[in-house]
Amino acid sequence: MLTHCECPRCGTVHDASTLLGVCSCGSPLLARYDLATVGTRVDPTAIARRDATLWRYRELLPVTDPSHVVTLGEGWTPLLPASRYGARVGLPGLLVKDEALLPTGSFKARGAAVGVSRAAELGVRHIAMPTNGNAGAAWAAYAARAGMRSTIAMPYSAPVAPRREIEAAGAELFLVDGLIGDAGALIRSKLGPDVFDASTLREPYRIEGKKTMGLEIVEQLGWRVPDVIVYPTGGGVGLIGIHKGLSELRALGWLPDGPGPRLVAVQSSGCAPIVRAFAAGERRAQPWADATTIAFGITVPAPLGDELILDALYASDGTAVAVDDDHILAELRDFAREEGLLLCPEGAACLAGVRDLLASGWLTPDERVVVINTGSALKYPDALTTALS
Ligand SMILES: Cc1ncc(COP(=O)(O)O)c(C=O)c1O
Ligand SMILES: [Zn+2]
Repeated sequence: MLTHCECPRCGTVHDASTLLGVCSCGSPLLARYDLATVGTRVDPTAIARRDATLWRYRELLPVTDPSHVVTLGEGWTPLLPASRYGARVGLPGLLVKDEALLPTGSFKARGAAVGVSRAAELGVRHIAMPTNGNAGAAWAAYAARAGMRSTIAMPYSAPVAPRREIEAAGAELFLVDGLIGDAGALIRSKLGPDVFDASTLREPYRIEGKKTMGLEIVEQLGWRVPDVIVYPTGGGVGLIGIHKGLSELRALGWLPDGPGPRLVAVQSSGCAPIVRAFAAGERRAQPWADATTIAFGITVPAPLGDELILDALYASDGTAVAVDDDHILAELRDFAREEGLLLCPEGAACLAGVRDLLASGWLTPDERVVVINTGSALKYPDALTTALS
């Protein structure tokens, strides 16, 4: 029950029945819903009876006609206790939301399913975007599913598996000698009246797909919030989305009063613009020079949504931590052995963050903490080889 899009920076209201990019002030836009009417049409009991996909939250998603939904069966991933690892590290209430099981093997499927569906609904026939790998793999797959063309640019240095997925989906692929910002510059030169810019946060609906992680977490916990959600932050779409989704549930009155969850942005010490800005109490982040990390998905030196990420961290009483690659690989190895679940480096980075926050006392042993494993480890054979050698 989408009503309009709104600029969180300058407050301008935008007509959501047209194709939208960013606001004229440069900020990403946020989708808004008629929550009062949503609350009269549906409730948690009705949602509980629906299919195990993210479309169970359709009143809080931007697609107006269900026939426009482009789906590969995305959503409702498991929320797994990790009590053996948790007990050893001093956090028995640790849970992992395992996004590796989604179509195309990462949480990017959520943003792509909703973003492509809404774009198709508004008549888009061709999308273009830069990627660190997983987003491109997901958007190329959903574009193919929608019968839409896709043009994707990614760094040469990105993992090979998503590159092959993009090619397999029939996308037009450009490889750039640089990072995601350089891929973005190349994509801007490919845009035209018939080519829609689906870059991170340059269209409003990818966030809506990603927010369903937050909706699922609270539904899986019996419509309760955990104390903390830990998210590996590159462009930050998932973190912004989770924060937005939980605000919508609070406005609907579907969550009990009380605080939480505190949101944690984990970055690699090789690329930590949000951590640096948070530590300095800033509202904007400065670009990170010479970014490099084994957790390739979070190599985003200048996220467009910096303001929204930082707002979500401050508003939720959260924090931001940077972790070293060696620590990421050590947690990845230990977790696989103790829990039988092989995390992607970005997911393992969250565990490294949890360890550091326990050591500093920011997290306490009695807390219920959800870590998001954003993708499948099998996409990173090289990182696995390094982790196990
Ligand atoms: C596996 C994985 N985790 C985390 C991220 C970061 O996601 P976001 O850009 O929403 O912060 C990415 C982005 O490419 C990714 O592929
Ligand atoms: Zn604006």
